[in-house]
Amino acid sequence: YALVVLVSGSGSNLQAIMDAIAGGTLDAQIACVVSNKRKAYALERAENASIPTHVAPLKPYLREGHTREQYDVDLAQVINGYAPDLIVLAGWMHIVSAAFLDVIQAPVINLHPALPGTFPGTHAIERAYEAFQRGEISQSGCMVHHVIPEIDAGEVITQAIVPFTAGESLDDYETRIHAAEHRIIVEAVRQIQLAKA
Ligand code: GRF
Repeated sequence: YALVVLVSGSGSNLQAIMDAIAGGTLDAQIACVVSNKRKAYALERAENASIPTHVAPLKPYLREGHTREQYDVDLAQVINGYAPDLIVLAGWMHIVSAAFLDVIQAPVINLHPALPGTFPGTHAIERAYEAFQRGEISQSGCMVHHVIPEIDAGEVITQAIVPFTAGESLDDYETRIHAAEHRIIVEAVRQIQLAKA
């Protein structure tokens, strides 16, 4: 069961998938790790495990006069080349366009650090924390959902509720969210794999 994982940052969720595979609790293999950021630590994690990587920076591509849509189509074709059964967006910072979803030949799932229908887009953890500070919510969480053209809106595969603790710092809360993410990202891949079986 082949995965292609798209990353932009530290790759702790990629690492969670790698650890589950190495530990024998996830029966899959990572065919390629794709990053738009050459310096993403996630790429080091992949290289340390001899997992193929592909770097596709957007800016140079646009500077050469290509469009964002062409970037997405080209990237989708590169990913298709690895014949994945599932594409996992794990901290991928770009919005996935309809052009990408039209070309890609496997389902795409995304990890988002907020509960369904809340705090779509960037800085979701921080915005949820501030809402808690204003007394508007008592819990937030994270979810993995299927990717459709509307941002952070596809069918939810799995989610985790992470209640706030009074007086905790944003950092402390963020650490607890990431711990929950590392669980649900693996759970989501397993669920889809078993549903396919
Ligand atoms: C995670 O919080 C994810 O939900 C968000 O970006 C972060 C990625 O972290 N989209 P990492 O690169 O997997 O450590």
